[in-house]
Formats: sequence, C-alpha cells, structure tokens
Amino acid sequence: MLHLASVANWLSNDRKGHTLPRGLYVSDEAFAFDTQVMLKSVWLYACTVAHVKNAGDYFVFELAGNSIIILRGRDNEVRAFWNSCRHRGAKICLDQSGRAPRLMCPYHQWTYGLDGKLLAARSMAEDFDKADHGLNPVALENVGGLIFICLSDNPPPIDRVKADIVDQIAVYDLEKLKVAVQDDYIEDANWKLVMENNRECYHCDVGHPELISVLGTTGFGRDAPADDYLETKRAEWQALGIDHDVIEFPDGWWHRVARLALANGAVTQSIDGKLACQKLIGPFKVPETSSLSVWTQPNSWHHFCCDHVVTFSLTPIGPEKTLLRTSWLVHEDAVEGVDYNPDHLAALWRATNVQDGHFSMVNHQGIANDGYVQGPYAVEENLVEDFKDFYVDRAKAALKAETI
Ligand code: FES
Ligand SMILES: [Fe+2]
Repeated sequence: MLHLASVANWLSNDRKGHTLPRGLYVSDEAFAFDTQVMLKSVWLYACTVAHVKNAGDYFVFELAGNSIIILRGRDNEVRAFWNSCRHRGAKICLDQSGRAPRLMCPYHQWTYGLDGKLLAARSMAEDFDKADHGLNPVALENVGGLIFICLSDNPPPIDRVKADIVDQIAVYDLEKLKVAVQDDYIEDANWKLVMENNRECYHCDVGHPELISVLGTTGFGRDAPADDYLETKRAEWQALGIDHDVIEFPDGWWHRVARLALANGAVTQSIDGKLACQKLIGPFKVPETSSLSVWTQPNSWHHFCCDHVVTFSLTPIGPEKTLLRTSWLVHEDAVEGVDYNPDHLAALWRATNVQDGHFSMVNHQGIANDGYVQGPYAVEENLVEDFKDFYVDRAKAALKAETI
C-alpha cells in the first residue's frame, strides 16, 4: 500500500545541505515508495557482462518483489526480461545465477529461447500463438560492460553517461574478464544511508585504516598527491591513453569518473597494495600506481585496477535492510591458486564493507531515534549532498508522475 501523502510531506521538508527527514530513512511508506516508484524511474546498475559471460548465462537482479533475468543470447547480446512466465506467471529462474541452453518454467515447462521467444508450450488451444507469448523485456543498456536496467516503460536518458564512461572503461575490456568472487552482504541500514556512507571519506581516517593505506582519501578532495608526482603520472597515463579529466555529476546527470593515484606505492586495491592477480588486464604491461573509479546514482560504484575490477551494487530489501553485492573480476585466463588467491583478492573491500556496514547501521539506529533532527553535511561531504539532491529530485518527479 502506497502512502504518497506522507512521502510528499517529507520531501517538502528537505533542507538544502542537510540530511533527509527521518521518515524518508526509516519508514515503511518511504521503502514502498522508493522500491515501487522512485527506483523504477531511474537506471539501476545490475551486473557486468562478465556475470553473463557465455551464451545461456543468466543473472537475476531483484528489487523488493520484482525479479529480472539478465541473459546472454546465442548472438552474444545481453538482454533483460521480467522473471515471470507468460503462462500463469510463475518465476522461471529460481537461482541467483546459472547457465541453461534455454529457460524452462518449473511449473508446466513452457520453454523459452535465449532471446526470450517462447519455443514450446504443451496442450494449448489451436489458435494460441507462441509469437505473442515471449518473455516481457526490460530496458537494458550495456555501458562499456556495465549493465544498467530500468524498470520503467519510459526510461530516462542515458546517452551522456555512455558518452562519458564507455571510452574510459573500454580499455579494461570487461568481456575478457571473469567473476572470481561475489559477496552478497546485508547491511542493517536503509539503502540511502548506505549510499550516503559511500559518498564521503570523512569517516575514513578512523574507520578504514586498511583502505586508506592503499587508496588514500584523494578521491574525496583531501591529501591530493604532489603536483610533480601527478605531472609524471599524467604523462604516463597519456602514453597509455587513459588520461581524462575528472567528470563529476555534470548538469544533474548521475555519474562521476576519476582516475586516482594510489597511496604508499600500492599498485592495486588489495589489502597489502601488492598485485591481487598476476595476469594484468587492459592496456597494462606493468603494475600501475593508479586506479579508475566510477560512481553512479543511485546504486553503484566501481574501481578498475591494473589487475582486477571490483564493482558494487546495492538494492533495498527492507526499510532497514540493504543488499550490498560486491564482485571481483580478473582476467579470464587467470588461474585460481596460481595467478590469484580469492581471499587476498577480496580482503581489502571485504574488510571495508564490514566497517561501512557498521557505520551505516549506527547511522540508521540513531535516525530511528525520536531525538533525530536533520543535520548539516560537512564541506567534504559534497558528494553525499549530490546523492541526496539526486534522490530528492527524482523522488519528486516520480511522485508527480504517479499522482497526475
Ligand atoms: S506458469 Fe510457467 S509454464 Fe505454467
Ligand atoms: Fe567507508
């Protein structure tokens, strides 16, 4: 049941430069609105092309009762379909991911091709037309190997995001990578708090000793490397064709892209700063002391290193439960136990995720308190404000469209 009046009231109490009204973080009404209205009006990051590497590979993305199959066809195209059979609606793919030569509904065995077309349906009337009963498609965009989906029939534009991101991540050639590790971690906090926490490093000095020893806090505007160091690096990046200016949520768009120098001689985002996979990726022939980061509203961030890629997606699963899915990708020819150790590969962000999960949980618990009042963002929390402004803007637009 949607209580749009409460949501409208909370949205009208948004304060510039301040956290959101309590109801938007902790209420059942806001959770229903976010998952049934707001998040269906925007592009959501779901997975990478490496998650559906071969024909027949599928990956199921779920958002509060909605289930979407992302599927690689025999023509190598990646498509998305509603995970609901065109017979009597049963869920078709029950596992989170897998591989199948065709999709067969577990109920009465209607069978679909990898392009979503209905291939077989027993005992139907003579005038039944299989061509009218293919799986219903969901809008999907492949942005340089990152798969975004939109659950609306009228998805918003995505062209500027593609124009700004594709070239920068194309060099990492995600089609040639494989998923080495995937962690599904549930945080006890509202999804917007998990996002806010991701958008600042105000908490990093105390909260993430492992992370800042390899990543520093430069991506969030502090401790910038010395100019002469950066000059040298930029010359190297130009030679590799990977030198680009920072792009920071331009003109109300929903993406940020930055190449950041790593700290303390680290050559990748690993727990000790040492290579996490011996097979380098992209244009890199030798270890590189920088990484490329991409952040998108409202549910993802990604880091591209010389030896692996790590991607994060989050989806709300309750007013105070959020699924954070982290995937580590390595070269498709890399051999586990020889070129990489999964525990070493995942250790840095696994530790960081747990630390962030704790911060988001205590944030949520404090906001659930009657004594909560909307608090001011710090100067270096400008990206948190960017996220919050995006949320309020899209929520108001979605609310308006819903109530017309
Ligand atoms: S509901 Fe899928 S075959 Fe009947
Ligand atoms: Fe953090």
